[in-house]
Amino acid sequence: MRIVLRALGFILLLDELLLSMAAKPPNVHYDFVVKEANYTKLCSTKSILTVNGSFPGPTITVHKGDTISVTVHNKGRYGLTIHWHGVKQPRNPWSDGPENITQCPIQAGASFTYQVIFSDEEGTLWWHAHSDWTRATVHGAIIILPPRDKSYPFATPYAQQAIIIASWYKADVMAVYDEAVTTGGDPNASDAFTINGQPGALYDCSKGTTYRILVNYGKTYLFRIINAVLNEELFFGIAKHKITVVGTDGEYIKPIITDYIMISPGQTMDVLVTTNQTPSYYYMAASAFADATASFDNTTTTAILQYNASYTPPSTIPSPTLPSYTDREAAENFTSKLRSLASTEHPVCVPKDITTQMFISVSVNQELCPNASCSGPNGTRLSASLNNISFVTPTIDVLQAYYRSLKGHRGKKGSDNEIYTTDFPLKPPYFYNFTGDVGNNTMNPSLGTKVKLINYMEQVEIVFQGTNVMAPENHPMHLHGFSFYLVGTGSGNFNYKTSPKSYNLVDPPKVNTFGVPKNGWATIRFVADNPGVWFMHCHLERHATWGMNTVIIVKNGNGKNSSILPPPDNLPSCSKS
Ligand code: C2O
Ligand code: CU
Repeated sequence: MRIVLRALGFILLLDELLLSMAAKPPNVHYDFVVKEANYTKLCSTKSILTVNGSFPGPTITVHKGDTISVTVHNKGRYGLTIHWHGVKQPRNPWSDGPENITQCPIQAGASFTYQVIFSDEEGTLWWHAHSDWTRATVHGAIIILPPRDKSYPFATPYAQQAIIIASWYKADVMAVYDEAVTTGGDPNASDAFTINGQPGALYDCSKGTTYRILVNYGKTYLFRIINAVLNEELFFGIAKHKITVVGTDGEYIKPIITDYIMISPGQTMDVLVTTNQTPSYYYMAASAFADATASFDNTTTTAILQYNASYTPPSTIPSPTLPSYTDREAAENFTSKLRSLASTEHPVCVPKDITTQMFISVSVNQELCPNASCSGPNGTRLSASLNNISFVTPTIDVLQAYYRSLKGHRGKKGSDNEIYTTDFPLKPPYFYNFTGDVGNNTMNPSLGTKVKLINYMEQVEIVFQGTNVMAPENHPMHLHGFSFYLVGTGSGNFNYKTSPKSYNLVDPPKVNTFGVPKNGWATIRFVADNPGVWFMHCHLERHATWGMNTVIIVKNGNGKNSSILPPPDNLPSCSKS
């Protein structure tokens, strides 16, 4: 049917029109072939894992509310999974992707078809591998256009372009990961950042291939910026051009006019740029915002905004002035400006009658090693925790274990507790001066696969408390299956009496990833309207590796329409994981 329609372009148009009138969205299919490909950067060539041979991978473009299917053919050497970051997947955790949380890996040589169900997302999201550090090179943009009969809440841009910023290692990323996991030490920092696959003018052997965006004078462009970097938050700006941020994480916001943005791994930002400067060449650039003591990639990636009318580059191409690496004030200045659009077309509905309240401490820790044989401080292994529990990834996915016992096929011991336990606590084991002198007693976390069960339609509030344990730092926390309102952030210890007074319940930003400030707190709210098994973790890859994760299971409601969909029949088997 689709082939016939492709051959007759005008019928396809007609067909689309009909479909946009009917409730059922078109079912677009993508094939993702995961395979190795050679890439040369920073003067050396290596083989990287890609989708369809490209880095970054293919862009998925849909309209709001579409459903697509993506068949992943794994032609690589390792098992892996793909996650659709920020896509809520209503009732469909089966296609969410985090390895051993909602599925076992698609083994080398095997394939799996994901159903990606879009609902209220509109703007920019992204997809990425969700197994170890494979997301370094296996990722791409997801562009969600307004519904077919609607437009943007701003003048339709003249043209648009995704800008994906990623980490580049000269070494094999799997080797970097393996070394860190084996030794227990800090993983090596990347050697470069890239913009749409190119490091840019400030690195060896890279100047000639700097990524360019060709623009016309006097137009407004929509750039969809994605931070796909593994371990660094970023500042980004364009020389001489103001940036107007109009969306983040697949939601519109009140426009913010700024010289730079701060964007965390996992986040996306939709920005408008008007080409109102002298036709010439201008650098756009990104460099780290790093407020920890840990080592980080302190290089700068650049790309060129090139006006079509200017044929020869100026003798020096102007560069944007970005805040310095440690400029926390600049970072917070920007993030504190984010506000939901809160219009009739794009309303806000912040939960106000909280029925589940959680308080989660967020820490970097140490685990003891036999004979102090690890490479962390004093021979320990670096670790990380939520409520002092460092998450242990199970060998069979939590979703399957949960769903099976829902259906009555319990494990031999008559419970699910061989795979996970449901005792993730509502609070840390005890309260201490989280952001002050924390002493030694919270240094070593307990280990476990502890999840939190939440009833369908609970109104949930979670306060995240950053701590001063070992290495305080900003943590970009991410929850699958939801967007939530970031109702407040603050520095120091959260105070139950005074901190909620600063909450914004009118137009807080609706996001899927947000920063828990270094030695500060952040509060989110959402309605648990999506039954399923949803991973929650820090989007700094090294912290996720160390266990800064947990799982939230939202139980089924009463009817079929408030229950997890039945599993697809081609789920990867867990035997070889
Ligand atoms: Cu961007 Cu758990 O993912
Ligand atoms: Cu973190």
